[in-house]
Amino acid sequence: MIRLDKYLADMGTGTRQEVKKYIRKGLVRVNQETVRTPEMKICEEKDEVFLEGQRIAYASCEYYMLNKPAGVVSATEDKRETTVIDLIRDRKRKDLFPVGRLDKDTEGLLLITNDGQLAHRLLSPKRHVDKTYYAKVSGCVTREDVLLFARGLDIGTDEREEWTMPGELEILRSGSESEILLTIQEGKYHQVKRMFQAVGKEVVYLRRERMGALVLDKELKPGEYRPLTKKELENVKNEDA
Ligand code: URA
Repeated sequence: MIRLDKYLADMGTGTRQEVKKYIRKGLVRVNQETVRTPEMKICEEKDEVFLEGQRIAYASCEYYMLNKPAGVVSATEDKRETTVIDLIRDRKRKDLFPVGRLDKDTEGLLLITNDGQLAHRLLSPKRHVDKTYYAKVSGCVTREDVLLFARGLDIGTDEREEWTMPGELEILRSGSESEILLTIQEGKYHQVKRMFQAVGKEVVYLRRERMGALVLDKELKPGEYRPLTKKELENVKNEDA
């Protein structure tokens, strides 16, 4: 059960104060009756709430798979830049956030939700959730790099070492520009780019393909998104149990 004003505010129809005004003005109906008391308790599963005749369904948690395009930032709000949340035009909840961050120029899989518990567990360094990236790298990626990545790399500075955990590097094509898949279990700042820098190479294109059980849907073009399927949600929740 949840207060009527909170129900409407949670669904992004206005601030708590604005919503109280709508209710007092008689714009809100619960089932068949106009209700003027913001504190009325609503059963999210059974009651039907209408604002100016339009049904406002309650979603306690939302889960979207976004193929993040380059040029948008992995934040919830930004004064100047487009954020990944701005791209989720069908969102009902106003408290959505991205699970982890991709750099502004990185594309690919990003889970957008308001399920804080799930996000916390997916991002917990203790859980070692696999993340797979596809990259184009300038320079020839070699068998030696594969071995170096498998040992873990120092991606720190001259003053301070910073070792990564082992990463699984698969070479798809090597040449003056190479294509690779890299699976890592951490999310250090610019980690993939810094791992290649550590072996004297530069990432020129980066896309996340997988995060734990969640695989980027090939049908989604950069900038497109869709709700997670039941099965995907089940898998993500189970792996993290
Ligand atoms: N590693 C990076 O360098 N950038 C990302 O966006 C993600 C992983």
